[in-house]
Amino acid sequence: MARRMLIAGNWKMNGLRQSLVFFEEICSIAGSRSDVDVLLAPPATLIFSAAEIAGPVKIGGQDCHNHPSGAHTGDISAEMLRDAGASCVIVGHSERRADHGESSDLVRSKAEAAQAAGLIPVICVGESESERRAGKAEAVVGAQLDQSLPENTAYVIAYEPVWAIGTGLTASIEDIAAMHAFIRSNLPDGPNTQILYGGSVKPDNAADILSLTDVDGALVGGASLKAADFTAIIAAAP
Ligand code: PGA
Repeated sequence: MARRMLIAGNWKMNGLRQSLVFFEEICSIAGSRSDVDVLLAPPATLIFSAAEIAGPVKIGGQDCHNHPSGAHTGDISAEMLRDAGASCVIVGHSERRADHGESSDLVRSKAEAAQAAGLIPVICVGESESERRAGKAEAVVGAQLDQSLPENTAYVIAYEPVWAIGTGLTASIEDIAAMHAFIRSNLPDGPNTQILYGGSVKPDNAADILSLTDVDGALVGGASLKAADFTAIIAAAP
């Protein structure tokens, strides 16, 4: 079966209740592209309200704890996300790995916790600028995959070169194609696993990136905060 396209928006620490007006516009575009899955990961405070009006748009969390419950002040469990209406959760985003010192082992246990709660984890991997310059991009991403992936292959991978996130820089089309092919060849269920590209995806580069054979969608940060840009990226899916 052909892999479906998935366009995912990561709002990061942005969005108040008034931002929910975007959803109507995004939902109408998502509804007109029944061949494309659309996922939005708003901040946790908006998940419940977003899920109530999301229609065909899937709602995701941006992180979850690796334990189901307990004395973890300020954290959110996968079951809580599910209870609020999420069906997916991003784990191992480079901002979590960098700002919170999250290791790939922790990312794997978060992915397992997500699956146990009935969520699909979107597992992020990607090399830093110095690692790419040193010719180590594949080695770094290969090691992240080895350590971050749970046994159960019900997950989505997002390849996000760290230096391309929020910088306006994107990897070259050739580098994206090569890395996605490398990732697919290293996955236990490669032919059936969706692999998203992330890092400064915008309306003007989306069509080229999304047309690559091994790119099954995009994880979009900044451009998912503007309804016109995000809907243009959805429309650019082949
Ligand atoms: P960006 O973020 O599109 O703003 O580069 C992507 C991401 O961090 O998922």
